[in-house]
Amino acid sequence: MASDEKETVEGLLEIKEIYEPPKEIVEKAYVKNYDEVYQAAIKDPEKFWEEAANELEWFKKWNKVLEWDYPKAKWFLGAKVNIVHNALDRHMNTWRRNKVALYWEGQDGSSRTLSYADLYREVNRFANALKELGIKKGDRVTIYLPRIPEQMIAMLATAKIGAIHSVVYSGFSAGALKDRIIDAEAKVVVTADGGYYRNKIVPLKDTVDEIRDECPTLEHVVVVRRTGKDIREKEGDIDWNELVKDKPVECKTEEMDSEDPLFILYTSGTTGKPKGVLHVHGGYMVGVYRTMKWIFDIKDDDVYWCTADAGWITGHSYIVYGPLINGATSLMWEGAPDYPHPGIWWSLIEKYKVSIFYTTPTAIRALMRYGEEWPRKYDLSSLRILGSVGEPINPEAWLWFRKVTGDRCPIMDTWWQTETGMIMISPLPCVPLKPGSATKPFPGIVAEIVDKDGNKITEPNKGGYLVIRTPWPAMMRTIYKDPDRYNSYWETIPNAYHTGDMAKMDEDGYFWILGRADDVLKVSGYRLGTAEIESALVSHEAVAEAAVIGKPDPVKGEAIKAFVVLKEGYEPSDDLVKELKMHVREVMGPIAMPSEIEFRESLPKTRSGKIMRRLLKAQELGLPVGDTSTLED
Ligand code: WTA
Repeated sequence: MASDEKETVEGLLEIKEIYEPPKEIVEKAYVKNYDEVYQAAIKDPEKFWEEAANELEWFKKWNKVLEWDYPKAKWFLGAKVNIVHNALDRHMNTWRRNKVALYWEGQDGSSRTLSYADLYREVNRFANALKELGIKKGDRVTIYLPRIPEQMIAMLATAKIGAIHSVVYSGFSAGALKDRIIDAEAKVVVTADGGYYRNKIVPLKDTVDEIRDECPTLEHVVVVRRTGKDIREKEGDIDWNELVKDKPVECKTEEMDSEDPLFILYTSGTTGKPKGVLHVHGGYMVGVYRTMKWIFDIKDDDVYWCTADAGWITGHSYIVYGPLINGATSLMWEGAPDYPHPGIWWSLIEKYKVSIFYTTPTAIRALMRYGEEWPRKYDLSSLRILGSVGEPINPEAWLWFRKVTGDRCPIMDTWWQTETGMIMISPLPCVPLKPGSATKPFPGIVAEIVDKDGNKITEPNKGGYLVIRTPWPAMMRTIYKDPDRYNSYWETIPNAYHTGDMAKMDEDGYFWILGRADDVLKVSGYRLGTAEIESALVSHEAVAEAAVIGKPDPVKGEAIKAFVVLKEGYEPSDDLVKELKMHVREVMGPIAMPSEIEFRESLPKTRSGKIMRRLLKAQELGLPVGDTSTLED
């Protein structure tokens, strides 16, 4: 893959200006001098992470910080812990028990406020309920819920009793949900009668009903009543409220080994089915705690809002675990960024006096289209730190985000992945910013740009593969039931973790993420695999073959374009385009629906039969097609 090509595609506007950090923020920040802290951490990373671990509570401390047996790492060996003890239980012994943990605002105008003690009780009641359903340490629980407090409660309850959660984003539909339940061999699915999204109700329970008979391990379906919509009662259905009603508000937290699994989160790779990325209690807890505290400089009087959904890694680490371990007050909004009106997000910032606001470039670009008059209507003076995640942020969006929020808040452009568990490259509030750059690696992290043989690229501004050289505590431990796939991350490029991203470094040592080097798409920040969308297309009776590419899109970052070869007896038509789009929507979910479908007589393939998506993409964008020597014909 020619990295130069990617740069032209991204078309990043170069802004030379450097944004110095605001003095009043640096003065109060946990970290005031990045270089000093970074250098110290790199000299002795184990000491660095151990110091963070010592700020948390353990049932029993470790006898060894790290065991690194390439490519397998274990952290805090011999320690006993439970992440939920640090997220909830330990706050019960301090003044924080009465502090607000969560402000929740529903799309229908309803709202809820949960203190740490409220959340603790709700979690315990549901944890006791799960036990009653026969869930034990190590069992898997699939959580398929809209953005409501129960999503967080179910996750914490599962982890509290030592079971493993697998959260499936509510924008996925039947086929995607089924694959994830089956792979995880989940015994319980926690869902809702529906979720509000814009002017629709997403029928989550109906989707579960469609596939539950095909999931042999599934014993119970717990249903949260959110919309009051009629649900088809099925054998095995349990009403959440009925279930928790008589449960005790205390529940013992399971003492876990530091390396015991906490959750599986499915994510897309280059080929085949989604991968079950597995994270553990100890190291993940330490990594998420330390990054959350330092990057967002979270303090007790902050109101923090991360607009992601807990169905993605951003939600796991920086909606659920990170904020709670830090004892923060968070906001959760059920709906979309621009519904019922394009000012809704800004109005929520004003209403709850949000001070730290973490969102995606896609959302910023979408709001940018509605114009500055929307943010101008609201008092956004409570904001002090902003964040961006999920895809490269173009400098135009960066500058706009900064300007409409008062031209004073530093933007933390955080680069990381489901697999890394925690933020890896990002400014801290004391780091001077360059719009569009994720700036520098977090202390303890060794990031480099290399060629395909693993040689470090030292020439400034030359693109290459982004790799991580050394282990970090929140790194995934394996791919569930597929250890070879785990190893391949560390075997593609010699002596390094291959991120799958292209990046460059400028003369000041700042990282600039250029985008994916493989067939993973980032559509509105959502991570999707071309292979999954292709197999959804091929599952339609009219489709013989399909190839999917990501096309640059001014708002979504990337849009999905599919090339389809029809089976004999089928003719291209506009109706068939519509039908195929709807089919992908039903199988995989609305987020995976192609925005464009083009019919072809055949697809370009290598002699070994692999579809050359790179060639299709180059043709589509009018770019040089590059090396075609392996082309079949
Ligand atoms: C991309 C999301 C540029 C990148 C947390 C990565 C980014 C993939 C950024 C992981 C960023 C994430 N700048 N690109 N700040 N953050 N990415 O697993 O391509 O959903 O490999 O995790 O998102 O996506 P995932």
